[in-house]
Amino acid sequence: VLAIWHQLTKAEIPELAKCSVLMRERSRVEETIYAMQRAGAGSLQVISDFDMTLTRFAHNGKRVPTTHNILDNQLLIDEDCTKKMRELLNTYYPIEIDASRTAEEKLPLMVEWWTKVHKLLISQRIRKDMLAQAVRESSAMLRDGYKVFFDRLTEQQVPLLIFSAGVGDVLEEVIRQNHVFLPNVHVISNYMDFDQTGVLRAFKGQLIHTFNKREGALSHAAGLRALQGRPNVLLLGDSLGDLTMADGVSQHQNLLTIGFLNDQVDERKESYMNSFDIVLVKDETMDVPNAILRYIT
Ligand code: C5P
Ligand code: MG
Repeated sequence: VLAIWHQLTKAEIPELAKCSVLMRERSRVEETIYAMQRAGAGSLQVISDFDMTLTRFAHNGKRVPTTHNILDNQLLIDEDCTKKMRELLNTYYPIEIDASRTAEEKLPLMVEWWTKVHKLLISQRIRKDMLAQAVRESSAMLRDGYKVFFDRLTEQQVPLLIFSAGVGDVLEEVIRQNHVFLPNVHVISNYMDFDQTGVLRAFKGQLIHTFNKREGALSHAAGLRALQGRPNVLLLGDSLGDLTMADGVSQHQNLLTIGFLNDQVDERKESYMNSFDIVLVKDETMDVPNAILRYIT
């Protein structure tokens, strides 16, 4: 039976044969895709990370900004704050992606990074009504094929949960300006809290960073009614921490995880292959998720 399945996915999902696609257990991936296809769109939900998963990692050799880095604009923050935020990025980003440290070791350092940056941002008295312009002026960019991805999910009425440790207000503005903030899209992220005059004074709720998405998933699960009763999950991420985004889904039947491996490829290839069902190496497109969705919905 497996041999027949293999033939089928090759014919139906040729994108999975690309050399940038790595799978430790191809047969398990195929079985999961078939099970999801049989259950159909009504049983499916998609949970995706945002920065460096729905957005590109780089474009024309330059890094694409994360939602935090979009705030690095003279409209919002001064030179001194820019300098400090860049220093923090240069210190903590290498730790975030360091293959030689465990998530447990990284966790307190990520809390430190986010806390320092949020403090800096609050000190700048950022204005809510300037965010849209900052996003327009940024080089924020969704992955190639994003439109097909969002449109397919909307057409098939499949809910998409975007689960981001970035800044929710900026994230929403990015998807709004790209015309994909559709009714089936739900967002969990760090939202800004503005005072009555529209000036940033705090961040709302429990801080979400790269390695505590499990807690966020568990605490938000009950509130996300659109996702309930959909036992099949397609999960997209670019960090090992993203794998816990589905921990709030009770009684899931099939879980298929896709990991974008953007940076430090040689160092991280093995751990990504051991953790994600499908690993996409330096792939700036949504081609593989789109091909899988085309098949299962
Ligand atoms: O959407 P996602 O969960 O990927 O957003 C978090 C990402 O934002 C992290 O992977 C981290 O590299 C990045 N980040 C940043 N600047 C910060 C904090 C996080 O670029 N100050
Ligand atoms: Mg990410």
